[in-house]
Amino acid sequence: MSAEPRQLIHVRSMRARDVPAVLAIEQVSYGYPWSERIFRDCLRVGYRGWVATALDDQVVGYGMLSVAVGEAHVLNLCVAPDFRGLGVAGLMLEAMITQAELERAESVLLEVRPSNSAARRLYKRRGFKRIATRPGYYPSPDGREDALLLALELDF
Ligand SMILES: CC(C)(COP(=O)(O)OP(=O)(O)OC[C@H]1O[C@@H](n2cnc3c(N)ncnc32)[C@H](O)[C@@H]1OP(=O)(O)O)[C@@H](O)C(=O)NCCC(=O)NCCS
Repeated sequence: MSAEPRQLIHVRSMRARDVPAVLAIEQVSYGYPWSERIFRDCLRVGYRGWVATALDDQVVGYGMLSVAVGEAHVLNLCVAPDFRGLGVAGLMLEAMITQAELERAESVLLEVRPSNSAARRLYKRRGFKRIATRPGYYPSPDGREDALLLALELDF
């Protein structure tokens, strides 16, 4: 009997030594990737980073969450191209939502590009609702692209 691919994925806290592997995925995933400095600064200031790893501890995805004054914010969520479509992002999103609940956040917020249909489907499935548009939030080849601001209300 073979295991489901997502059963072979483990989600754990991001460590400084994961940053090179995280950065390699970031650079092939975004037109405007975060720099190494941004990842290191996020960890230094205490934001919560996660990585999804395959069997040999290979990093195949990561997420970054900040929590402050009752509000959690998903700052980044990304899966290596070869591992997409397997539910890996959903596993990391659950870890982030659980963390937000542990830290007594009332809501989880995130921005997403309107053109990012894979991400929008993922968040909709998990119950995120669109609450606003941030005009010109993202850089894009044609100038700027709006962001949709999505929120998941957490109840206690
Ligand atoms: C958005 C992202 C994190 C989703 O990760 P994932 O682990 O593939 O998520 P899922 O497995 O739940 O799949 C999400 C959707 O991607 C689509 N998908 C399926 N296989 C895919 C593949 N091989 N490649 C790309 N997308 C695929 C599916 O349509 C799926 O939606 P569905 O389940 O309603 O059909 C991932 O596509 C990614 O890293 N994209 C680049 C970074 C990014 O845009 N991050 C989000 C910023 S807000």
